[in-house]
Amino acid sequence: MDGNGRWAKKRLLPRVVGHKRGVDAVREVARAARDMGLEALTLYAFSSENWKRPADEIADLMGLLKAFIRSDLQELIDNNARLRIIGDYHGLAPDIVELVEDAMARTAANTGTTLAIALNYGSQQEIARAAARAAAKGAITPEAIEAELYTADLPPLDLLIRTSGEVRLSNFLLWQAAYAEMWFTDVLWPDFTPEHLRQALDQFSTRERRFGGR
Ligand code: FPP
Repeated sequence: MDGNGRWAKKRLLPRVVGHKRGVDAVREVARAARDMGLEALTLYAFSSENWKRPADEIADLMGLLKAFIRSDLQELIDNNARLRIIGDYHGLAPDIVELVEDAMARTAANTGTTLAIALNYGSQQEIARAAARAAAKGAITPEAIEAELYTADLPPLDLLIRTSGEVRLSNFLLWQAAYAEMWFTDVLWPDFTPEHLRQALDQFSTRERRFGGR
């Protein structure tokens, strides 16, 4: 969800305002994903590398995350949506761990769109962890690793969207992106609307996916 900082800077506003507008975009795009009948939407909210940011920005992001779960959980429940957290979220503050575990438990049985939020997530760490867990159980095969990824109970990744003109994966869903289609846009995340999601999906539907075959 890149571009919150630049969105704010362009307007001479504090970065936190960009992140706040980013949360508004999260809400609208998550609603659109639900209305479009997507099986899952995964958002990269906080990477394992984001700890390098200034403490006040980290506190702002954690505060926004908590506020979002508190304000929007009921809407997720009312709409049969499931909340999942991927990443080493146990490394976050105890009140956030408690909040997200409660939210996941309350939506675990829901069968509609899964809203997955990546928190304290890094894909290389995820793969190393999955390989170690697979090894502890037996052979290290692609299937065994896949079963140990945070995303094991999510559908395969079909489409990966990156905003704000960045053209790299930045340690996000590296394994899962093996056959994903990619869609890059210059739009900054706070300006990303359901219409942009629609455009990305329209593009996706025109792509011929061969998964290595011909
Ligand atoms: C990238 O913009 C955005 C983030 C690092 C944080 C995104 C997190 C939120 C909006 C908080 C809450 C999340 C949810 C799911 C409710 P940037 O700061 O890297 O912007 P820049 O690339 O313009 O500097």
